[in-house]
Amino acid sequence: MVYEEIQTLDFQSIISTVAIAIWLLLPAYTPNNFAVVFGGGKPIDLGRKFIDGKRILGNGKTIRGLFAGISGGIVTAHSQLFLENILQINLYSSLEYSSFIHIAVSLTIGAMFGDIIGSFIKRRAGFERGTSVPLLDQMDFLVFALLLASFSGVFSVLFTPHVIIAGFITTPLLHILTNFIAYKLGLKNVPW
Ligand code: CTP
Ligand code: MG
Repeated sequence: MVYEEIQTLDFQSIISTVAIAIWLLLPAYTPNNFAVVFGGGKPIDLGRKFIDGKRILGNGKTIRGLFAGISGGIVTAHSQLFLENILQINLYSSLEYSSFIHIAVSLTIGAMFGDIIGSFIKRRAGFERGTSVPLLDQMDFLVFALLLASFSGVFSVLFTPHVIIAGFITTPLLHILTNFIAYKLGLKNVPW
């Protein structure tokens, strides 16, 4: 009986930690979606090649996509603040506005920067633009988002070790799940 209670409690705390991790990481998750929708035009590397003769970043990283992504992430974070106030959830809304904006902007810029670093690594490894590289594609943005956000003094108030671990485990699984749903809906040709 007691054992069962502990099990239930554990399961619930895992679920709530995962939910908190996803919620807190939304300003890092959404920028790439905004870049996909609103990106295009001039590539960030302006078409230039690296010393290895391959493109520095490639045509998949555009200036418009970068700005759309950053704006999108910041809009997302503010929408979350708004929703938290309505639903009386105290995560981002528990912070001073200046701390909130510091973390939100860091997560967003860090995510876009990590995505760019990921493309840089992919080009050096000889992968063409658009090739999916498992783990790198799902982790580059997360690592840099958290790294940049960790410079905020109140980072650890929300991003506890448990939340960070949950984020690292959930992110690739979420990616697989969303791709599978997109495939089932006919938005993608392959389920990965
Ligand atoms: N995108 C953009 N600018 C960015 C990031 C993304 O315009 N800074 C758009 C591009 O149209 C890109 C799409 O979003 O093709 C998907 O992003 P992503 O998967 O990161 O790029 P890939 O095309 O797969 O290129 P890479 O191989 O370099 O990751
Ligand atoms: Mg890609």
